[in-house]
Amino acid sequence: MRSHYCGTLSTERIDETVTLCGWVDRRRDHGGVIFLDLRDREGIVQVVFDPDTEEHFERADRVRSEYVLKVTGRVRARGEGTVNPNMATGEIEVLGKQLEILNQAATPPFQLDEHTAVGEDVRLHYRYMDLRRPEMQQRLVLRSKITNAVRNFLDGEGFLDIETPILTRATPEGARDYLVPSRTHAGQFFALPQSPQLFKQLLMVSGFDRYYQIAKCFRDEDLRADRQPEFTQIDIETSFLEEDEIMAITERMVRDLFQSVLDVDLGDFPHMPYSEAMERFGSDKPDLRIPLELVSIDDLMAQVEFKVFHGPAVDPDGRVAALRVPGGASISRKEIDDYTKYISIFGARGLAWIKVNDIDAGIEGLQSPILKFMPDDVVAQLMQRLDAANGDIIFFGADKTNVVNESLGHLRLKVGEDLGMVAEGWAPLWVVDFPMFEKAGDGNWTPLHHPFTAPSCSPEELESNPGEALSRAYDMVLNGTELGGGSIRIHARDMQESVFRILGIGEEEANEKFGFLLDALKYGAPPHGGLAFGLDRLVMLMTGAQSIRDVIAFPKTQSAACLMTDAPGAVDAKQLRELNIRLRETPAQASPAADSSAA
Ligand code: AMO
Ligand code: AMP
Repeated sequence: MRSHYCGTLSTERIDETVTLCGWVDRRRDHGGVIFLDLRDREGIVQVVFDPDTEEHFERADRVRSEYVLKVTGRVRARGEGTVNPNMATGEIEVLGKQLEILNQAATPPFQLDEHTAVGEDVRLHYRYMDLRRPEMQQRLVLRSKITNAVRNFLDGEGFLDIETPILTRATPEGARDYLVPSRTHAGQFFALPQSPQLFKQLLMVSGFDRYYQIAKCFRDEDLRADRQPEFTQIDIETSFLEEDEIMAITERMVRDLFQSVLDVDLGDFPHMPYSEAMERFGSDKPDLRIPLELVSIDDLMAQVEFKVFHGPAVDPDGRVAALRVPGGASISRKEIDDYTKYISIFGARGLAWIKVNDIDAGIEGLQSPILKFMPDDVVAQLMQRLDAANGDIIFFGADKTNVVNESLGHLRLKVGEDLGMVAEGWAPLWVVDFPMFEKAGDGNWTPLHHPFTAPSCSPEELESNPGEALSRAYDMVLNGTELGGGSIRIHARDMQESVFRILGIGEEEANEKFGFLLDALKYGAPPHGGLAFGLDRLVMLMTGAQSIRDVIAFPKTQSAACLMTDAPGAVDAKQLRELNIRLRETPAQASPAADSSAA
């Protein structure tokens, strides 16, 4: 129907006759002349109808917002003074000759340019309208460009795109499974994949050597601004490559992507051991744009009597750390109280601080509720170690190491943002040398990555000291977001069995859940490893969107519901009977539509 997209017209087309199809963005009546802003996915152009074109003019007079039109007219330069520099097509307009109304539209539930006023639940309810907004269109266009660039890159590197099942068994990635009941096997369930992890490893056993897939993953976990229950991975697996080679290829993929899509040069990514990231930033995904660092002061605080500090300082599982914030002396008591409350979410029981008013005046030049607990010489050493200067505030955390890291790590981000210390641009890095396991709340070992990750030691060393073992895992971090993670996998059956043993997965359970993997490891599994990127997170960062929902066409709310389709929904009794399912109690009548917890 159309000859051109609205948004592509420019002075190059002057005097050409064009046919456009699109939606009425705005209609204005200016003293007998009608202006229609016509919108399609490429942008907006102004169309003018004057009364000379009688019947078409009359139709133009009748159209309303979001009507669908086909317009034929002549491109002309705008008159002097009417050029709109804020509009891509602002130097021209189309003098309308013919207008056909392809469809009418009811009054829209919200004006597209007033989406911020209506709340995200309304936008999600009428998602197809929300997606008409140029901002949303641009994000999804960029998403498509990104997946295209990724496919081209991987194809060029000899990767094969192979699909893996959605109806499958549980793949443990640390979240709850979404289950699907089987009709043909009464009482049995499929699990939707939390990732294609096991299948991609089996593809390596089959000899495919380089695999990738843009794969849907499903995880029933607590949702946040950067998490969805259903999300997409750029999933990669390779054989016969060491971790450095896998990191090099995938780093090149991300660098090429930023270069081609955003014209940004990310440079070489630094590598940082996990232990250093935790020590300096209290996080395994440090945001290196913020120039603040944690400094350990256990040795100094072991000398003080102040119990709050002394205890953790001499506890092997404890930590006392300081965070020096240049210019932070202007932070008010009220703001300090707010920060204290903020970090209590992470288990911190307090937030001690010292303000540096005059460093040359010794103790007299400092202001703090904790100075009275510390000998002067310790304070002097502290100031020296931290390189304190006038105008600083120094925050302190003392507790179990993980509590101090989490709380000061988050405080670092928050204060950095509040004081405008986040540098412009991009700060990528690799975090490497992760521990194999960490202690869960119940005292049992859990894998830091997943149970198929290879340790960098022998099975004997691993079993004799699981807490000390490092893994061959690596995470790519960008601006404080974990973009992707992966590892070299276990390809020897005895090693895999050792890991299951340490995790408390008995032989029977291992065979029941992962027998097919253990079997496959018997039949000539090559050394292999890979990685998966969170595509949604990548697009979110590259588009500058604030939420992962803004880069997914049809996302779920924070309570994992779709406000537009009303999913999940009740099913009728017959369907349940076929599935051999009897509900314990009648489900609440409330439908997900009543749920407005989108934010
Ligand atoms: P992992 O669990 O680290 O590794 O996931 C890889 C990447 O996927 C993204 N991601 C998510 N994005 C949106 N919503 C979620 N709920 C969500 N969960 C994870 C993150 C993360 O870095 N099989 C392994 C990869 C491997 O070892 O090859 C895996 O899934 O960006
Ligand atoms: P208190 O003697 O309990 O009033 O604490 C003195 C200061 O130490 C206050 O500023 C508290 O916020 C702070 N504080 C208390 N517990 C901790 C802790 N675990 N880590 C850091 N600071 C703390």
